[in-house]
Amino acid sequence: MTERNRPEQQVYANYTPEDFKVWKTLFNRQYELIEKHASKDYIIALEKIGFTAERIPDFQEVNIRLKNLTGWQLTTVPCISPADKFFNLLSKKTFTATCWLRNFSELDYIEEPDMFHDVFGHAPLLSNPDYVTFFKAMGDIAMKNIHNPQLIIMLQRLYWFTIEFGLVLDSGEIKFYGAGILSSMSETKHALNPESTKKAYNVSEIMQHDFRTDIIQEEYYVIDSFAQLSDSIADIEKEVLKTLT
Ligand SMILES: [Fe+2]
Repeated sequence: MTERNRPEQQVYANYTPEDFKVWKTLFNRQYELIEKHASKDYIIALEKIGFTAERIPDFQEVNIRLKNLTGWQLTTVPCISPADKFFNLLSKKTFTATCWLRNFSELDYIEEPDMFHDVFGHAPLLSNPDYVTFFKAMGDIAMKNIHNPQLIIMLQRLYWFTIEFGLVLDSGEIKFYGAGILSSMSETKHALNPESTKKAYNVSEIMQHDFRTDIIQEEYYVIDSFAQLSDSIADIEKEVLKTLT
């Protein structure tokens, strides 16, 4: 296996013609599915942030847009960040994203998040005020409890069942907004399958619900709207307090 190049910073000129082809293929393939099945807020956010099939996003341009919209930004990391770094940056309205792309042989499955997952999946909703209020609160609460591993796991579960694999009701229909679904064809198809379990969003249940990163998800939680995420911050704080006392 050749060693993958995981740059610490995005150098736009280093993207190869294959990288552009991979981005375009993944973008078009996912767009076809998300047009019908993703949350309308995600579709609006994708337009606002200006991503297209033709152009790999330039982090500098994305950050200018996000700064104007919600004050958030992306920062480049070579691979998944440790929890303390990840949550600390969230509390500073910063999302950690890789800037390298999978190659053509990995279109359907990649072991670790690449830029298509991090940027196509996560970045657009950083322009949504309710979503980022919830996301920042997660960072703030984690940083107050960073030396409590049990609480950090509870917050990671919450992150998993919302930001990564969350579903939302749009005019009575279940749509998805989690980055793990938005950026993966197999997860998209599975989330759409009526046989996968969909439960109503419930903070205290989610914070006790273990998850696995190595399988297609079996259960999903559905929010009524993005406002439900920001409205649930007090419930998260209550759960944290319950665990501490
Ligand atoms: Fe992710």
